[in-house]
Amino acid sequence: MTPELPRLKPDPIPAIHPVPEYAATGMLAEAYDRTKAGLGVPWVGVVAMAFAQYPAFYGRLWSALVPIARSAAFGAACESLRNTAEGAAATLAPVSILTRLRAQGYDTRELDEIRACNAVFSAGNMPYLLMASLARLLLEGQEWEGAQAPGPGIPGPPPLPRPPLVEAHHADPSTVALYADIRETLGLPFVNTDYRAFARWPSYFAPAWRDLRGAVVSSRYEGQVCRVHEAAVALAAGLPNVTGLTAAELRDAAAQDAPVDEVLAVVRLFQWLLPGLALNVAFLRAQLQPAQ
Ligand code: 2OP
Repeated sequence: MTPELPRLKPDPIPAIHPVPEYAATGMLAEAYDRTKAGLGVPWVGVVAMAFAQYPAFYGRLWSALVPIARSAAFGAACESLRNTAEGAAATLAPVSILTRLRAQGYDTRELDEIRACNAVFSAGNMPYLLMASLARLLLEGQEWEGAQAPGPGIPGPPPLPRPPLVEAHHADPSTVALYADIRETLGLPFVNTDYRAFARWPSYFAPAWRDLRGAVVSSRYEGQVCRVHEAAVALAAGLPNVTGLTAAELRDAAAQDAPVDEVLAVVRLFQWLLPGLALNVAFLRAQLQPAQ
């Protein structure tokens, strides 16, 4: 049975204190390395950075994910969620950007590099969204009813380098302004890693974001985000709960780090933003396909 977990943006938005990978040391760096290896992703999502600020909470959540993160059930859930995000993006009718890029001089090899960068996030955001959905489900006091058997394992993806990021302090004024527009349009105090990776190609990302922005402010957008949100909650709740993690156990772990409501607000923020991010990355991916 799919749990009732409506989309919910915490108000006020909680302060988050993500430590970038290059600045992580000691146990935090170890948590980051475990996250990337366990989820088979080449970057530490801002969601994991924020969760890792609550080590008892993140440690207990992670211990429940370890037995399943490389399972066929988890892989199937990620694939299904990605299909939902890409179907929702198609509903927003993304227009191909290829002609504009080729007119600027982009050749096929360079377009393939942009597609490869998008592919990292098209795939990698799914485990992060499932993780955030499980965390919210449990911290909200609902039980994770998944079966106790993890099922067969699957080979992990080939190791990939972390995409180079254009941080605000690296960026030229036009990219700084674009980041400000992203924060304002999405209603977030930070720029997700995905956009900082796509900004590696400013003359690509500026028109790509302009078209995506049009979809984000359209009347159809929130309905499509809800599609992704609902799929994420249903798929997460259906994952095998091999360690039998209960809502009380995760709430008790969180209480060791901070007031549970503080941790819950951070979890709600990411479980609110990640469905939209998955949809946005799928929209950007669709722009890079030839015009139909
Ligand atoms: C981020 O790193 C998880 O991709 C998402 O912001």
